Amino acid sequence: MTVFAQEDFADHEQVVFVSDAAAGLKALIAIHDTTLGPALGGCRMYPYADEAAALRDVLRLSRGMTWKAAASGLDLGGGKAVIIGDPRSQKTPALLQAMGRAVERLAGRYITAEDVGTTVADFAEVRKATRHVVGLPVELGGTGDPSPTTALGVFHGLAAAARHRWGAASLAGSHVAVQGLGNVGWHLCQLLHEAGAALTVSDVDASRAAKAVASFAARVVSPDAIYAAEAEIFAPCAMGAVLNDETVAQLRCAIVGGAANNQLAREEHGEQLRTRGILYAPDFVINAGGMIRVASERDGFDEGVVDRGVAGIGDTLLAIFQGAEADGVPTETAALHLAQARLSQARAVQAALAA
Ligand code: NAI
Repeated sequence: MTVFAQEDFADHEQVVFVSDAAAGLKALIAIHDTTLGPALGGCRMYPYADEAAALRDVLRLSRGMTWKAAASGLDLGGGKAVIIGDPRSQKTPALLQAMGRAVERLAGRYITAEDVGTTVADFAEVRKATRHVVGLPVELGGTGDPSPTTALGVFHGLAAAARHRWGAASLAGSHVAVQGLGNVGWHLCQLLHEAGAALTVSDVDASRAAKAVASFAARVVSPDAIYAAEAEIFAPCAMGAVLNDETVAQLRCAIVGGAANNQLAREEHGEQLRTRGILYAPDFVINAGGMIRVASERDGFDEGVVDRGVAGIGDTLLAIFQGAEADGVPTETAALHLAQARLSQARAVQAALAA
């Protein structure tokens, strides 16, 4: 297994391989870029097939966090951690505390939070060993589960996309296909239903889909059928790489925007969406609501400030859509330009100060 030569190794500042045999911990922490501030990103626990898969995941995810923070105007860098193991059978207080010790050794260069396979409650354990944690339970001074705020950001983002695409004043009367009814997808359905949108949903867990029928009068389709659903908007809220060689051709929608990270399997799928006339809201911009919320714990949480930041996701996307059209590039490219411009500016200021 190579590290520096990996396709996803994109000038990462630091990659830490963590081992604590007594606690049964094997983990990786990747710090991609700290130009704008300490690297913040969730800690995922997953039974990766092998170490190479875990490394690839942590490198991709940490780089995405750099773009997410930069595009959202946060003074934070990008980082991520992955614990190799099955969260259902291998997650113990000792393992979580060992992870906390590993985070503490980085002395604040990396700030951790919940992610797939970890919960807000798990971070009460991690917190015993490090101060560098956000997304803590409310009783420990945190802001609790960030998922409803992520969903609100996606909702604002979809409204902005509808305004850009159709000049629509709201999402009332629109039809949205939501893939994945977990923490974010469920809250998103709630917001869309209240706003007067019709819903088509899918989840591999049939009981969640059935609940959506009862709660939102949603139509249910099988997981494979969601791509070709007859809806104007497709909102991926389950896994990454769902916009790929097989699915892009099936889409009948005019807008794609949802919470899942790394939705484009490869860069070229962004161009394919553009060619098909489908407006894509780049994932790292539209799903930044949760990050905006947990980041606020560092400066003293203020609901009003968070709400304004999350509503700003819509404005950022409008600027990206307009920029992409003006330059004739995919929206993902325009969003990357925005994030990279902010990083370049910060680097120039830092270089001038150091001179
Ligand atoms: P979750 O684990 O609570 O929900 C995921 C849902 O997707 C589950 O109900 C699962 O059964 C379903 N699912 C899995 N595979 C599926 C498939 N092939 N078709 C249909 N449904 C499927 O996760 P959560 O927290 O709702 O996050 C959703 C996505 O958004 C993840 O990719 C996550 O990384 C991303 N995200 C979440 C944030 C948050 O605040 N929770 C913040 C930013 C990104």
